[in-house]
Formats: sequence, C-alpha cells, structure tokens
Amino acid sequence: MPEDKAPQQRRGSASLRSASREAAQERRSAPQRRPLVAANWKMHKTIAEADQFLERFIGSIGELEAVDVVICPPYTALAATIERTRRSPVLIAAQNVHESDSGAFTGEISIPMLSELGVAGAIIGHSERRQHFAESDQALARKLAALLAADLLPILCVGETEAQRDGGETESVLITQLDADLAEVPGAKLGQVVIAYEPIWAIGTGRTATPEQAQEASALIRARVAERDREAAAAIRVVYGGSVKPENAAELFDRPDIDGGLVGGASLDPEDFVAICRAA
Ligand code: 13P
Repeated sequence: MPEDKAPQQRRGSASLRSASREAAQERRSAPQRRPLVAANWKMHKTIAEADQFLERFIGSIGELEAVDVVICPPYTALAATIERTRRSPVLIAAQNVHESDSGAFTGEISIPMLSELGVAGAIIGHSERRQHFAESDQALARKLAALLAADLLPILCVGETEAQRDGGETESVLITQLDADLAEVPGAKLGQVVIAYEPIWAIGTGRTATPEQAQEASALIRARVAERDREAAAAIRVVYGGSVKPENAAELFDRPDIDGGLVGGASLDPEDFVAICRAA
C-alpha cells in the first residue's frame, strides 16, 4: 500500500478496532482452528498442466498434517486432479457451483454433479464472478445453503473495492455482504463456512493488504458472525486472499483472526504454493 493511501484507508477504523477487541475476547474461549490454504487456479491449467503441478506439489508437501490444503482447478480438471490426489491429504474443490440440483441452466454445474466426482467444496462469491458474471448476494445465499446441505465445504469470498476502502466503506460493505450471503445458513452449520476476505484492490495487483488491514477486516467478519452465534464465530475460519506470496504469507497468517489464505497467482507454481502452505 503506498504511503499516501494510508490515512484514507484508516478511516472508519475505530469500529474495526472495537470489532478486533470483541474478537479477541471470543478467542479466549476459542477452540484451536485448523488453518486452511486454498489455491484458486481461476481459468488456468489444462489437465496435463495440472498433472505436472501435482507431481511436484504432492512430492513436497508430505508432512503438512496440520493444515487443510485445498486446490480449486477449473471444472475440466476436477476429475483428473481428484484421481491424482486420492492418496494425498489435498482436497479438490470447484470455483463455483449452481444452487439447483438440475434444470435448464445452460453452462452451469450442480452440487450432485460435483459430489459424484468427489469434490470437497466450492469457492463462491469470488469478486471476479460478482463483477463479470453478475453473481448476486441472493444467489450466493442459496449456493451457500445448498453446499452445506450437501456437506460440502463452502469458501465464501467477500471484500471491498479500492474506492469503497478510500471512502471509508469497508466495514459497511463487508457487513452487507456477510448478512446477505449468510442469511440462509442454518445456525448449526454456520461454523463450517470458510470466509475469504479478499479486498478487490489486492487481487492480482501485487498490492497485498497489510497484515493490520487484513487482521482488522478478519476480526470484523468474526465479530459479525458472533452477533449471530458466538460458538460459530470461534469455529469459523477466516482466510485472506489478495497477492499472497511466499514472502508475505507468514506475517499475514500469523495474525490471530487470519486462519490461512486463498491464493491466486502464486498457487500456480508448485514451489511457491508449498512455501505458502508451510507458512500456515
Ligand atoms: P492473487 O493471489 O493472484 O492476487 O488472487 C487472489 C484471488 O483472487 C484468490 O481467489
């Protein structure tokens, strides 16, 4: 973050700080959360390329037992990557899903179709899908409930644009997204959701949020969940996404409310992604 942006971006941080304090109180009684690092390959890698990646990646992650490692390849590589990771701890998830089991939805993929392959979960609400494919919070609420009903892992993305941050709207944007997206989640399943805080200005830009900014937003997310259910808030995993790299992963993941990462560009390289997983 450039120096001159700092004062604007700190605007509205008083309530974020108080959210941080509340989250700190939650943590005193919190169970240990298992870190999660997910690779979002976006529209990258053919089956052959995915195979080359996994050969190198699986060879070097052997002892990473304390971290959930999830790889989200394009749909076309799901079956092959599931087969390739069968005897490894790596989980394979999709990058999107439709909320209906079947129907006249040309080009869409349903949860039963993913479950049949052995897919472990799905990213939903990525800002690229919200922006380029007009994905609405209402649709996301249905997707989230449908994934949980099928016992799949949802990785819900939320985050603000640069203009929203500069305008002091980060908190209200996150709260609006969370309230709408979590609306249909039954209380008993709330703790199973993974929430990825992905500030849009940090995605693919090389401009990572500072650990303080990422922590503040993650604490706010946890505090908002706590308003509904304190136990779920202590259990829910909040991960950070946006220009995560081997060089900055450890200091981000070190923060008390950041339970891992959702990694784009750096997850395409097996050595970089192993290094990021180790940082968690
Ligand atoms: P980058 O890591 O390339 O910034 O992408 C982040 C992201 O969008 C993960 O979902």
